[in-house]
Amino acid sequence: MNRWIKGAALGLAVVGLMSISVSGGARAETLQSLRGASSIDEADKAPDIAKQKTGERFTRAYRQQPPMVPHKIDKYEIDLKVNQCIGCHDWPQNVKENAPKISETHYLSPTGVRLNKVSGSRWFCNQCHVPQALLDPLVTNTFESAIGQ
Ligand code: HEC
Ligand code: HEC
Repeated sequence: MNRWIKGAALGLAVVGLMSISVSGGARAETLQSLRGASSIDEADKAPDIAKQKTGERFTRAYRQQPPMVPHKIDKYEIDLKVNQCIGCHDWPQNVKENAPKISETHYLSPTGVRLNKVSGSRWFCNQCHVPQALLDPLVTNTFESAIGQ
């Protein structure tokens, strides 16, 4: 009796393992990566350049989130000397440009001293503020903001 139970349990385990490996194989065939279906040693063609979402401002998902950029930024240069974002977003130019003013937190030095120009630690704006591309996500995502607006 005992031996019969052990035998049955082993049989079930083998069937279970087999079905796991079969379904695993099936999944690998239906999944597609960003690279498409070409094999590893093949060079893939370059993907199209995605259009950017422009127009309406994005809602923030949480209070401290750097707002995402609702316009194109590829023509705006940022390097050690030049920062074209500042030309529209720094006060008082932002008034004429009708652009949101750079947050006051960006004028604090690392030791907390209030500066009259954007702090070096905030100079490279797109380190934190990024535009969004118009793309169909590869994987559906039902994320919703925790704080609404
Ligand atoms: C020619 C002027 C101009 C330049 C240059 C510019 N912006 Fe803007 N930006 C705007 C305007 C106008 C808006 C507001 C758009 C709206 O309200 O629909 C805006 C909106 C934004 C926002 C959204 C803020 C929020 O609270 O939702 C961010 C972030 C931003 N810009 C970042 C940047 C960055 C980073 C750069 C440089 C790479 C840059 N901008 C360059 C005019 C400009
Ligand atoms: C280290 C990350 C970081 C960098 C670099 C940075 N920002 Fe921000 N930015 C934030 C965060 C976080 C917020 C939202 C919280 C706050 O106001 O500090 C913000 C807020 C803003 C806002 C919205 C202000 C408001 O009142 O709604 C604007 C506009 C903005 N940043 C522009 C810029 C520009 C232009 C640059 C480059 C000169 C820049 N930021 C660099 C993180 C960054």
